[in-house]
Amino acid sequence: MKILIIYGTSEGQTQKIAAFMSNILLEEGHSTLMANATEKPPAPEDFDAVLIGSSIHLHSYKSAIKSYIKENLVSLNEKLTGFFSVSLAMASKNATEHEEVKEITKSFLTKTNWQPDHIYYMAGALQFTKYDYLKKMTMRTIAKKERPGEEIDINSDYEYSDWKKIEAQTLNFSISLQNLKLHGQT
Ligand SMILES: Cc1cc2nc3c(=O)[nH]c(=O)nc-3n(C[C@H](O)[C@H](O)[C@H](O)COP(=O)(O)O)c2cc1C
Repeated sequence: MKILIIYGTSEGQTQKIAAFMSNILLEEGHSTLMANATEKPPAPEDFDAVLIGSSIHLHSYKSAIKSYIKENLVSLNEKLTGFFSVSLAMASKNATEHEEVKEITKSFLTKTNWQPDHIYYMAGALQFTKYDYLKKMTMRTIAKKERPGEEIDINSDYEYSDWKKIEAQTLNFSISLQNLKLHGQT
């Protein structure tokens, strides 16, 4: 199956996750094409399935992802699709933080009218080495709230993405593609 993977990222974590998912799908015998939402990504028409991923910044998904979905809505809603959401809140042990991400996602999908078959929530990273001073201070405050008791060094990076979980999520998507094939929908 041909899978298109579109990602929206600021510091690169969503791209890293997209590449990890792409490798798993290749191992599963699919072909993949990865594209950054800001770099004229291809339309979904030539693909059997589409995965779209975005990080959350300031309670919002990336605008390039919103535009891509808007421009390709009809085609996306006709295909097998999955949305992967990358955030710091999903690294929190506090379930209320997870609920917030789910609310942001619900509102985002309602506004865009996109109905993905799968939604995968993933924890991202804190990449202080890529932030300017103001961002470092802001993210340190947020990190202290999200991960109480943890030492935060504003000159280090912290990766919270759970690669085992992401592997399982990607395999779940791959299985749904096999089911699609079995039922002859492509
Ligand atoms: C300026 C800024 C704002 C952020 N806002 C949020 C937020 O509102 N909610 C959240 O859960 N994570 C937030 N994050 C954390 C990002 O989602 C996390 O760092 C993610 O790994 C970024 O992925 P990317 O490198 O693909 O953009 C924020 C990060 C930055 C730098």
